[in-house]
Amino acid sequence: MDARAPDEYKSPAMNSSRTQRENVGPGVAPPNVFVIDHPVVQTKLTELRDASADHREFRALLDEIASLMVYEVTRDWPTKPQAVDTPLERTTGHVLARQVTLVPILRAGLGMADGVLKLLPDARLGHLGVYRNEQTLEPVPYYQKLPPDIAQTEVLLIDPMLATGGSGSAAVAFLKKAGVRSMKFVCLVAAPEGIRALHKQHPEVPIYCAAIDRELNDKGYILPGLGDAGDRIFGT
Ligand code: PRP
Ligand code: URA
Repeated sequence: MDARAPDEYKSPAMNSSRTQRENVGPGVAPPNVFVIDHPVVQTKLTELRDASADHREFRALLDEIASLMVYEVTRDWPTKPQAVDTPLERTTGHVLARQVTLVPILRAGLGMADGVLKLLPDARLGHLGVYRNEQTLEPVPYYQKLPPDIAQTEVLLIDPMLATGGSGSAAVAFLKKAGVRSMKFVCLVAAPEGIRALHKQHPEVPIYCAAIDRELNDKGYILPGLGDAGDRIFGT
């Protein structure tokens, strides 16, 4: 498959064209799914998909893409007025109205955390450890640590891969139990199957990604995908 083929990867800018939810496929953004099709993001994603990128290149690209995605992901966040003294006079600026909590799903979500923090340096960090059982593909939660006041904050749940959607759905359910009311799921590559599964359980949670790929293979890997994100980030 040609990862540059326009029909496969060109997605409607910020979901401007929507289809029925059942009709999730490559390059087709269903309701509440936002594909960040900025040319710079797409260029870096293509470099990231390349099997010849080693863990150093992979980490650097993932970090850059995560930073770039923040602009679109946070576009609709509320701001509040704030007085500021310029060297010449007092004026009113605007700042983010709510605290932000970043929650990477371990391990691979950690690969996006620094990139997001560059743009949102005041964010707190929670961690959710979830891995997929390789045989059943079921999510196995193994670690949770969240800031105590997470419920009052804007939450970005980050993980580069949305495959079957098991890990993402489990993480969203955990955050809801912790009282989180406003969250977005931010990934790099989403499979149609994962989008359907996450939105079946949590339709109100917006999904942001850089690409909707074709399908899962019989081992639950995204095609064409980028392989095992955790292994490529950490060199394992
Ligand atoms: C990967 C990825 C997601 C999950 C996606 O993690 O980072 O968390 O798989 O698959 P799913 O949508 O089918 O649940 P993995 O289980 O490989 O753990 P790791 O990040 O520790 O390598
Ligand atoms: N997890 C990954 O890291 N890659 C996939 O393609 C699917 C799940």
